[in-house]
Amino acid sequence: MDLHLSGKTAVVTGGSKGIGLAVVRTLLAEGMRVVTGSRSLTPELKETGALHVPVDLSTADGATTLVDQALAELGGIDLLVNNVGVGDTDDVAQGALLNVLDLPDSAWEHTFALHFYSALRVSRAALPSLVERRGTIVNVSSAGARVVSAGPADYNVSKAALNALTKVFAEQFGPSGVRAVTVSPGPVRTGVWTDPDGLIARIAREQGVPHEVLAERLLSSLSPSTGRLSTPEEVARLIAFVASPSNITGSEYLIDGGVVKSA
Ligand SMILES: NC(=O)c1ccc[n+]([C@@H]2O[C@H](COP(=O)([O-])OP(=O)(O)OC[C@H]3O[C@@H](n4cnc5c(N)ncnc54)[C@H](OP(=O)(O)O)[C@@H]3O)[C@@H](O)[C@H]2O)c1
Repeated sequence: MDLHLSGKTAVVTGGSKGIGLAVVRTLLAEGMRVVTGSRSLTPELKETGALHVPVDLSTADGATTLVDQALAELGGIDLLVNNVGVGDTDDVAQGALLNVLDLPDSAWEHTFALHFYSALRVSRAALPSLVERRGTIVNVSSAGARVVSAGPADYNVSKAALNALTKVFAEQFGPSGVRAVTVSPGPVRTGVWTDPDGLIARIAREQGVPHEVLAERLLSSLSPSTGRLSTPEEVARLIAFVASPSNITGSEYLIDGGVVKSA
């Protein structure tokens, strides 16, 4: 199936590993030119040949630097994938362990900076070019935005805000030809689940439980109908599909193996 992305340009936030890396690879395979921003350049990202911009996307400067460099390299932006998230701070882990009385403002602020403000700021910087090219924004959210009680409160609430932001982009820029779509993964087999320093491992350490035991327990409490994590490649394929020219806008696409049970 031709997704009609060939020859177009994309900016992906957080492309050094995990879902973002899979998105970079998938878009390159579709014939797009891709720029990605993250703090580190991993060997896996380097191998793709995508242009890497070293930025901290939890800051306002990081967002504008990424878009400025992407515009200089690509000449314009057809697709923006706001994927960056989770990161390696303890904020999201704290959000899973503490209730709202104990979760400090600093955790809420950093979690919102990385998951909500980065998408707002990168999109704002990219929108003039997206309007010119009648482009598309894909916001990578989380099924957690729908099952807010089942995970880190700060993270899930920031993702719910991101879902709402997609709707605002769709409404305000639809008349200018820009589409905005939310893709919401459930649990995905990335370092978040598997790295010895990833989110689940950190929570396990805090709880004094072996990493694999907590991962198994969490997955079973989320109870995906398929019984498994999604792969980053499966999420990347959905992102490429919604990025393909169509009349889809403002909508949310879940890829969660059936974690969300409501109709
Ligand atoms: N994995 C899951 O189960 C799951 C489930 C639902 C939703 N999601 C969402 O999917 C997205 C990707 O998650 P993932 O599992 O692929 O995470 P990941 O493997 O931890 O990758 C996160 C990416 O974001 C980058 N990043 C983190 N903090 C950054 C910062 N301050 N500035 C710039 N880049 C930064 C990382 O690169 P550097 O470390 O090099 O900066 C990396 O490229 C996130 O929005 C996450 O919320 C994931």
